[in-house]
Amino acid sequence: MTFLAADLHNFHDVFRPLPATDGRFISFEGIEGSGKTTQIRRLEASLKAQGLEVLCLREPGGTPFGEQLRQAILTQGEPLDPMAEAGLFVASRAQLLKEKILPFLHGQPRHVVLLDRYLDSTLAYQGHARGRPVAPLWAMHQFAPLNTLPHTTFFLDIDVETSLARQAARGNQKDYFEARQRDFHQRLAEGYRALAKAHSERIVTVDARRAEDLVFADLSAALRARGVL
Ligand SMILES: Nc1ncnc2c1ncn2[C@@H]1O[C@H](COP(=O)(O)OP(=O)(O)OP(=O)(O)O)[C@@H](O)[C@H]1O
Ligand SMILES: [Mg+2]
Repeated sequence: MTFLAADLHNFHDVFRPLPATDGRFISFEGIEGSGKTTQIRRLEASLKAQGLEVLCLREPGGTPFGEQLRQAILTQGEPLDPMAEAGLFVASRAQLLKEKILPFLHGQPRHVVLLDRYLDSTLAYQGHARGRPVAPLWAMHQFAPLNTLPHTTFFLDIDVETSLARQAARGNQKDYFEARQRDFHQRLAEGYRALAKAHSERIVTVDARRAEDLVFADLSAALRARGVL
């Protein structure tokens, strides 16, 4: 137990930066309806038009094994134990890194991975939103291939009202997470904001309540300003 408390602030030490000769790794985070999928599609088109090779993936999923886990999680009725939930996501993530992300980026500086949800989703959903500590969740990521951080993470920040309104407009049946109560989504949004504040060198917060074009302009400007692309 003590190693977790002592090492928590230094946890980034165990993360392995991708070599400069590799491609770029960008993740997208935010509550349901914040526009992750919408912005990933736009960025994919824009990067491809610049001649870059782009691989878009989502979590959980992205590999045959991960897609099976995705089905298992999202069709689950009653809330799972948070550690059971975390274990499923982490299993999907490890397989995605090994099978898809790391091979695609290796030695290919003009390759870009755009990933819909990653590590911060685990911290926000299985940690903050469940009222659980994040230290054990960080600890699950200290070994390869899980100790890989994106070059940039975009946190698309919207309020819960906007999220609910966009979900209602979509009109689909609610999945495992969408069915949680309003206060769960509120804690989730607050968890994401706390993560963005604590990891401001990696996480770029974008006000995603605004029109799609304005959000996209901010994402593009941030990538240029940070020299990611
Ligand atoms: N900036 C925006 N303004 C208004 N509506 C938006 C904006 N961005 C996305 N939308 C709409 O909101 C809905 C949710 O967007 P999207 O599916 O991209 O969100 P998401 O973050 O991927 O959600 P989920 O986590 O549920 O997959 C869609 O119907 C989309 O067209
Ligand atoms: Mg989506």
